[in-house]
Amino acid sequence: MALWGGRFTGTVDPLMDAFNASIHFDKRMYEADIRGSQAYAKALVKREIITEQEGTMLITGLEKVLEEWRNNTFEIKPADEDIHTANERRLGEHVGSVAGKLHTGRSRNDQVATDLRIWTREETRKLLGYLKHHWLLSYAWSLQADAFRLSQIIDRLNVLPLGSGALAGNPFNIDREFVAKELGFNGVIQNSLYGVSDRDFVAEVLFWASVTMVHISRLSEDLIIYSSGEFGFVTLADAYSTGSSLMPQKKNPDSCELLRGKSGRVFGQLSGFLMTYKGLPSTYNKDFQEDKEPLFDAVDTLAGSLQITAGVISTLKIHPEKMRQNLSIDMLATDLAEYLVRKGVPFRETHHIAGAAVRIAEERNTTMSNLSLSDFKQLHTAFEEDVSAVWDFEKSIENRSSLGGTSRVTVVAQIKKLKSWLLE
Ligand code: ARG
Repeated sequence: MALWGGRFTGTVDPLMDAFNASIHFDKRMYEADIRGSQAYAKALVKREIITEQEGTMLITGLEKVLEEWRNNTFEIKPADEDIHTANERRLGEHVGSVAGKLHTGRSRNDQVATDLRIWTREETRKLLGYLKHHWLLSYAWSLQADAFRLSQIIDRLNVLPLGSGALAGNPFNIDREFVAKELGFNGVIQNSLYGVSDRDFVAEVLFWASVTMVHISRLSEDLIIYSSGEFGFVTLADAYSTGSSLMPQKKNPDSCELLRGKSGRVFGQLSGFLMTYKGLPSTYNKDFQEDKEPLFDAVDTLAGSLQITAGVISTLKIHPEKMRQNLSIDMLATDLAEYLVRKGVPFRETHHIAGAAVRIAEERNTTMSNLSLSDFKQLHTAFEEDVSAVWDFEKSIENRSSLGGTSRVTVVAQIKKLKSWLLE
């Protein structure tokens, strides 16, 4: 019989039973559920709702159930509706009727809200670790922002709902601060209605996952283009490529295409969950059971994507000579404009003049570096012999030496900053 069977006389449609059940996915939270119950048992002892001895029975019994989950011997029974009912049913089989005292003053509403916060906190902490892997410099800053964002989300979600009851709070004066400490929460949710009805943290983690996947998809897109035959700037390691069943010469950047594709899946989970969340009346609604699969799927997808991305980057072959071959003198048109700026000509004018130089070179089917000094002097009298020094790509890069620019010194400074953060 279901835990809530008392007031029911009719039987539930077996289809409804299956429809209602969440055990097949919420069993992932088995450890969070057991830790939450153990802390709650201690809190019941503290208020003398149960004896010290009963508390010990519950806590050690729950530890046994945890062991069964861990070594894969927990047997799910057809009547196990969700992880909460399954654990309590099994606890009863270990310790007998005292198991029935555990749920005193508690509801699955505050229980599930607590479990999901614990699970999310633990799993997203792992993701934080994956984020701190190797990165290309510009993407590194995006991913560092993702790491900061996730840390803030973890801080925000790490407050305790347990003790909110079904919606109206706990009638046994449970010491919620104590329970929070036991379970590693930073604080206690201050309002019981809010405690069982808040799922902002699910939305926040899904949003974080989405933005992180935006970054990964953009990096992937760069790598797909740069690894194509036409560019050849990088080569993906065999470990992260696949062949074509039709074209023998092909080496496909499937890792990157999949990473790009997975981003769509994660955005779908975010928008899907927001549709479920929107317009719900206050407190717990069974709709919330639909929060878990999107969250679990997004967390799994991010765990996989972050690790694959790190693998792709750390094994990537870079071909600087190919990149150099693709440089063309017209790319230095801005530098030509800046040359004139240094001679005192307003930038608005120099931009036009450099544009004209590009056009003349194009018309003559040559490069700007082949134009004569008199050609330049006709465009502006400020041009002098030293204009020839503009046609130097290294110098162009070194010129951009203010904070954040491309010069060697500023790039090394960025790497230093990121590295010291990674080592924190
Ligand atoms: N399996 C449920 C969930 O995931 C547990 C809460 C049940 N509460 C209720 N009022 N039916 O949300």
